[in-house]
Amino acid sequence: MIGRVGHIEMISWLLWWCLLLSSAIVFLADHGGSSVTYDSRSLLINGKHKILFSGSIHYPRSTPQMWPSLISKARAGGLDAIDTYVFWNLHEPQQGQYDFSGRKDLVRFIKEVQDQGLYVCLRIGPFIESEWTYGGLPFWLHDVPGIVFRSDNKPFKYHMLRYAKKIVKMLKAEKLYASQGGPIILSQIENEYKNVEAAFREKGPPYVRWAAKMAVGLHTGVPWVMCKQDDAPDPVINACNGLRCGETFAGPNSPNKPAIWTENWTSVYQAYGKKTRLRSAEDIAFHVALFIAKGGSFVNYYMYHGGTNFGRTAAEYVPTSYYDQAPLDEYGLLRQPKYGHLKELHAAVKLCRKPLLSGKWTNFSLGHLQEAFVFERHSEECAAFLVNNDGRRNAKVNFKKKSYKLPPKSISILPDCKTAAFNTAQVSTQYGTRLAKTRQNFDSIEQWKEYKEDIPSFDKTSLRANMLLEQMNTTKDSSDYLWYTFRFQQNSSNAHSLLTVNSLAHNLHAFVNGEFIGSAHGSHDNKSFTLQKRLPLKHGTNYVSLLSVMTGLPDGGAYLERRVAGLRSVTMQFKHELHDFTTYLSGYKVGLLGENIQLHRNHGGAKAYWSRYTTSRQPLTWYKTIFDAPLGDDPVALNLSSMGKGEAWVNGQSIGRYWVSFLDPNGNPYQTWYHIPRSFLKPSGNLLVLLEEEKGNPLGISIGTMSITKVCGLVSNYHLPPVSSWQGKNQINGNSKTKYGRRPKVQLRCPRGRTISSVLFSSFGNPSGDCETYAIGSCHSSNSRAIVEKACLGKEICSIPVSSKNFHGDPCPGIAKSLLVDAKCT
Ligand SMILES: *[C@@H]1O[C@H](CO)[C@@H](O)[C@H](O)[C@H]1NC(C)=O
Ligand SMILES: *[C@@H]1O[C@H](CO)[C@@H](O)[C@H](O)[C@H]1NC(C)=O
Ligand SMILES: *[C@@H]1O[C@H](CO)[C@@H](O)[C@H](O)[C@H]1NC(C)=O
Ligand SMILES: *[C@@H]1O[C@H](CO)[C@@H](O)[C@H](O)[C@H]1NC(C)=O
Ligand SMILES: *[C@@H]1O[C@H](CO)[C@@H](O)[C@H](O)[C@H]1NC(C)=O
Ligand SMILES: *[C@@H]1O[C@H](CO)[C@@H](O)[C@H](O)[C@H]1NC(C)=O
Repeated sequence: MIGRVGHIEMISWLLWWCLLLSSAIVFLADHGGSSVTYDSRSLLINGKHKILFSGSIHYPRSTPQMWPSLISKARAGGLDAIDTYVFWNLHEPQQGQYDFSGRKDLVRFIKEVQDQGLYVCLRIGPFIESEWTYGGLPFWLHDVPGIVFRSDNKPFKYHMLRYAKKIVKMLKAEKLYASQGGPIILSQIENEYKNVEAAFREKGPPYVRWAAKMAVGLHTGVPWVMCKQDDAPDPVINACNGLRCGETFAGPNSPNKPAIWTENWTSVYQAYGKKTRLRSAEDIAFHVALFIAKGGSFVNYYMYHGGTNFGRTAAEYVPTSYYDQAPLDEYGLLRQPKYGHLKELHAAVKLCRKPLLSGKWTNFSLGHLQEAFVFERHSEECAAFLVNNDGRRNAKVNFKKKSYKLPPKSISILPDCKTAAFNTAQVSTQYGTRLAKTRQNFDSIEQWKEYKEDIPSFDKTSLRANMLLEQMNTTKDSSDYLWYTFRFQQNSSNAHSLLTVNSLAHNLHAFVNGEFIGSAHGSHDNKSFTLQKRLPLKHGTNYVSLLSVMTGLPDGGAYLERRVAGLRSVTMQFKHELHDFTTYLSGYKVGLLGENIQLHRNHGGAKAYWSRYTTSRQPLTWYKTIFDAPLGDDPVALNLSSMGKGEAWVNGQSIGRYWVSFLDPNGNPYQTWYHIPRSFLKPSGNLLVLLEEEKGNPLGISIGTMSITKVCGLVSNYHLPPVSSWQGKNQINGNSKTKYGRRPKVQLRCPRGRTISSVLFSSFGNPSGDCETYAIGSCHSSNSRAIVEKACLGKEICSIPVSSKNFHGDPCPGIAKSLLVDAKCT
């Protein structure tokens, strides 16, 4: 992804859909494969129009051991396709040296999707942004002479072509394109280029044309898309990314292309220094339903599973946990009610499939802020989307002689133009609460060993310059860390001076004569920051060592190769004199000593380096301990609440950077739990190593497991029955009594292997609040608890009809009632 929030195009939406299906571009199928083509309505697979729901799952953000379960949950959630980027800098870390092992095994991932019967949309990039370090480009490209990324530039195009060919050739050899019988039905070239195109002036448009031609020339046999590129050259399809494509997308740029939404953001990515924004299930469902109502045929959720930015793969100021708020959370657990609500939406849309794909589209007003979108072939085949755009009030609308109640900002889907099967604002799926359970503490001094990182002085450096070097160009991204060191004479006694350092990235720790004097950092939205500290100097030679730390490389914007990081100016004020060290002789050291001797490795580097834990808690200290894997299958995570900033490794594998001391605008850390994939662990004797930059306390670290321990349902007695109860019975043309006579019910389901052990709250009546906070209202059936306990205790799944009959009588006739049940799973 992503255009930064706020890049939502404000182009009016054109009524393109009524244009006749015309000039379908046909990609010929080779032997035994499927043909994938498209026209103005949708993609066609083997000549059949398709409404497709897709979800992004990025293979390197989870592990091969997690892939099968993630994909099967996506499938059960009603997805037809999985979308992933291809991560160039993982696959070609050094020019010409390729790596497709482990989490990088793209072919294995695609085959896993294929085995579960889903399609794949492959976004080759090669630029991907994606909150991924350097936007997916390998850092060595930076040093290719004369290179200008993503423009009409010979060296860049040479490497982009070479890489795209390599990937496509590999996938073809494995017969993974649909044209060959494989699952890949779409490919994407470039990514949100329109955001930067203007900056490249006359070098922009020819690059777009070249990229499109190059992609088509790779002969994958499946269509290509460019997202956010409204001038994508034929036959490449332009697609929409954003939060509200139903409202903002200007439509395909040619009458023979379908409306495709490649990134329907399931929340907004997090970054240090940004407000955390969540997106509700209702809001997502509204915009997806609107997009479909307006003729859209393909929606991809970004992300469906975000996962983990392991190692140093996160882009600058991006936390390790990625889109934990997606329908599948970081650990792959169902995020309810988002997952369930979207599943119901998919089912409702699929019930409309026939009229959607072959009916005639009309829309008309139902009121001041209400409108209808109707797809109709004949009276038997008709589907309608009734939209209430009023964000405050319920609306009562009349449609085909029947009356419908629409909650604020909602869409009702009527698969037969008569009965509402789903409303985007009525969540009938259960809520779930994930809880971490502490399984092991590390609170005794004997459990830890430490290694105090060396603070290099100018005399110990070999790289020298009479200027402040740019950080990325100096480290070549081999480390987050670069030491800038200075040496100078101080002649007067009892001297104090004021040190002022300005930096562009990202974190700075200052030491004088080996002593720590302070830190400073920037943030996602303001990279420039200043450290100002009084320096305790001694008479004679003084040494200042400044450690500049990058928390990821930048991942977007034009001219990425020209971005700069590291220190920009250093001055010291001695009494009335200002000394400028910006152009003074400085000595450099790339990386930390602990990195060079590989302290994170199995056996923790040579034993000799480690000493007993001293509780002195100096900044820049390495810590290690040994632990056993928690029993069971629940996902495992490390509670680093007591730590500051650094990186953690388990059995030699980095589980990512942590930065607990960076607080969000509400005063909370962005992330305190750090995922340790089960596959990184053995039953016992696991090595945990941390590099702590600040003064964090390792005795406060613990290991926990994650599980859904609470489930909750809230359904009112006028709620629609779950769409799932419609499926598989061909009810659309069937008997309307059986199909719509169903009563609303609360359904609860614990994760597999757990059962409901207690009912925390139960009220049939008018309980106030929602599944987060609730209380009994003025109307409450005294049977509530007994009836729910009877139905649910000891069961993995239970279902309670929301009706007075079920509760042995109406506790308050004439009042609208609902049932709220909150229960514990163990
Ligand atoms: C896409 O859908 C998700 C729900 O999956 C929603 O939360 C998100 O806001 C939507 N994103 C956009 C850009 O509309
Ligand atoms: C029909 O839909 C189009 C596209 O969204 C819109 O511009 C137009 O105003 C709608 N017409 C009515 C009558 O709602
Ligand atoms: C990068 O470093 C090299 C020397 O290693 C230097 O020649 C070049 O000018 C530097 N480039 C930038 C952009 O700083
Ligand atoms: C201290 O004296 C030395 C030589 O006597 C001179 O080079 C240096 O600049 C002086 N330092 C300061 C901070 O005045
Ligand atoms: C960014 O932070 C610096 C302080 O280091 C401040 O001078 C500058 O005004 C800030 N810029 C913005 C846009 O907030
Ligand atoms: C995480 O650790 C901190 C102490 O470092 C502790 O206060 C907190 O309760 C732990 N969190 C959980 C959920 O156990």
